[in-house]
Amino acid sequence: MRFKSKVFLAPMAEVNDPAFRILCSKYGAGLTWTEMISSSALARNEKNKLFNVQKNENPIAVQLMGNNLEDISKAVKIVSKKADVVDFNMGCPIHKIVNSGCGAALLKDPEKVKQIVETLVSSTKKPVSVKIRSGWDDKSINILQIAKIIEDNGASMIIVHPKTRVQLKSGNPDWGLIKKVKEKLSIPVIGNGGINKPEDVKKMFSETECDYVMIARAASKNPYIFTQVKQYLKNGGYEKENPEKIVFDYLKLVKKYKPSLNYIKLHVTYFTKGLRGSNQFRTELSKIKSLDEIENKLNGFFK
Ligand SMILES: Cc1cc2nc3c(=O)[nH]c(=O)nc-3n(C[C@H](O)[C@H](O)[C@H](O)COP(=O)(O)O)c2cc1C
Repeated sequence: MRFKSKVFLAPMAEVNDPAFRILCSKYGAGLTWTEMISSSALARNEKNKLFNVQKNENPIAVQLMGNNLEDISKAVKIVSKKADVVDFNMGCPIHKIVNSGCGAALLKDPEKVKQIVETLVSSTKKPVSVKIRSGWDDKSINILQIAKIIEDNGASMIIVHPKTRVQLKSGNPDWGLIKKVKEKLSIPVIGNGGINKPEDVKKMFSETECDYVMIARAASKNPYIFTQVKQYLKNGGYEKENPEKIVFDYLKLVKKYKPSLNYIKLHVTYFTKGLRGSNQFRTELSKIKSLDEIENKLNGFFK
């Protein structure tokens, strides 16, 4: 596949509503991701509210998680109708997910990884990608073995977030492991973890030689980072983001794609964080019950 940029928006549960994804795409993200969707829930009910891909979202990657092969196959067939890339989560570290044998728990079971990738690939004509961590803990770093199984069974891309499950969100990602995966595999490698500013993207490309870079938290605070990365890679400099423009660009898309108030409040809080009066604004926002009220408050905030 060809993308307009080599820098992508990472999957983020309870963050990546369609309006936010489209905003990132308008600002230059080469590919955006849905939130993680349970394949078993989707197999039971095709109308899952997280499977909310919009007509003009292309390219889009839809991320599934799970461990039941029959449900995975059904879910892949459903998402393939709208996804440009079918992605599978083998990295989620949260207790509820790993305790049910999904997400990063799969890294402990290479045979299951093989079966899942075979199932994914045989259930769709779309490219399949898999998102992995380095291993379960620092004594069981098996990323190279897992990555090879993923490639050998037909995946078209791999996303490497080089932290163990036990690290959760703490510690630094080990970019050296992205480089090792890149050296070992022939399929494109997407590096992820620890990008805070455009300079980090350049550093990740040059240190790891990965094919693409994926950004999560920094993009949730500043989706304009995708434009800044483009400017930085071209000219070595970039313009500062304008939070007011980001907020109102997002609101325009919100009116069209109508995410729930929780998403809107979360994004508006992130985009205004650190600005003068933002703490007080956040408290007021939490009590608001309509989009009109949010818009009025924002007009007042930026006056
Ligand atoms: C709020 C939040 C939700 C996330 N949800 C998902 C998810 O649904 N699927 C997934 O594969 N990773 C998820 N992640 C992990 C990110 O995609 C990414 O791997 C991680 O945050 C490291 O990238 P970063 O350093 O750019 O934030 C989530 C991260 C955050 C902060």
